[in-house]
Amino acid sequence: TGMFTYDPGFLSTASCESAITYIDGDKGQLLYRGYPIDQLAQNNDFLDVCYLILNGELPSAEQKLQFDSEVTNHTMVHEQLATFISGFSRDAHPMAMLTAAVGALSAFYHDATDITNPEHRRLSAIRLIAKMPTLVAMVYKYSLGQPYIYPRNDLSYTGNFLRMMFANPCEDYKVNDVVERALDRIFILHADHEQNASTSTVRLCGSSGTNPFAAISAGIACLWGPAHGGANEACLQMLENLQANGGVAKVGEFMEKVKDKTSGVRLMGFGHRVYKNYDPRAKLMQETCKEVLSALGLENDPLFKLAMELERIALEDPYFVDRKLYPNVDFYSGIVQRAIGIPTPLFTGIFALARTVGWISQWDEMISDPEYKIGRPRQLYTGSAVRDIKR
Ligand code: CMC
Repeated sequence: TGMFTYDPGFLSTASCESAITYIDGDKGQLLYRGYPIDQLAQNNDFLDVCYLILNGELPSAEQKLQFDSEVTNHTMVHEQLATFISGFSRDAHPMAMLTAAVGALSAFYHDATDITNPEHRRLSAIRLIAKMPTLVAMVYKYSLGQPYIYPRNDLSYTGNFLRMMFANPCEDYKVNDVVERALDRIFILHADHEQNASTSTVRLCGSSGTNPFAAISAGIACLWGPAHGGANEACLQMLENLQANGGVAKVGEFMEKVKDKTSGVRLMGFGHRVYKNYDPRAKLMQETCKEVLSALGLENDPLFKLAMELERIALEDPYFVDRKLYPNVDFYSGIVQRAIGIPTPLFTGIFALARTVGWISQWDEMISDPEYKIGRPRQLYTGSAVRDIKR
């Protein structure tokens, strides 16, 4: 291949150095800034994790108070954004509206557009983390034809998001603690995942020196695809189809189809490019799923029973064992979101909300490096040799 290494899909190319997230796929280990994901999910809230991912250390009590209050004070979006969103048809896909709305944020913050200024970069990060819940909830309310619910700063980050999503302006809304904790945990589990496709997109886009809102909007566009953020939606659809066609009684038959390569059917929510052991996020998600279902009186949820049965069979079956196929984070997260009342087309929006901190931290890490270069891959040209236009 001459001067270049040819590596389609970047299977063996490290595109950058990064001190943020570490994955050991064989061990099933995921660390943010050195801390194991399960310890963070059990001991910390999402804003602790945001602070950690952005700054490298967990916040002290004082830093935490300051960070939380700063994020809270940036949750409102400019009223013109409501006008902007109302230009879409009501049935527009939430990801189409979200990509556009986040890109549009760049038109509002001329006060902090010098990306060489660390204080401007920090402010952009705070704004993005703070405004994502507001935008996701606005997009949802718009699709329902309901009025927007404005952010309330006395609630937690996740409690405020739940209220903006589900409150009716004419009634009081009480945040359910178990649901709040579960959603907060979903956010923690999705906060970063090193150089996946959307994060690499944010870095490549940002490497031209464009503003961070534009770069994050590119990341959201990438996440939208079914091979990335769309997998939990596909997993829930698989469970719903299976339930409609006989449920647990038909699991054996379904698994035979999955193992038959000619069928083209895969067990969605199983397998991972990097994890060749149990995805550590899937374990936590399964626990969370149990907690939420029991708190909401849905212990007998047939989809959860179905998922448990599929997992039980797969973990004993040589087909899955030999190929090191284990449940990934998406296997249970769709069931949790469905129980909370989040509609399936919004699952990827929830993922985008949570991943924003990872994207913006990776962008900041890149821009802070005095040696960073514009990303510019080469190619192997396969087109025509030089030729002349015939007159
Ligand atoms: N069901 C049945 N067979 C599977 C599955 C599955 N879910 N996943 C992989 N295999 C088989 C595959 O057929 C192949 O078999 P063989 O060696 O006999 O040809 C072997 O396992 C290796 O599969 P692969 O496709 O080469 O592995 P990959 O690393 O390229 O793919 C994957 C990883 C996630 C795309 C794949 O496991 C898959 O399609 N899973 C289902 C979709 C899914 O749950 N995706 C979510 C991923 S996690 C989300 C995120 O972190 O963003």
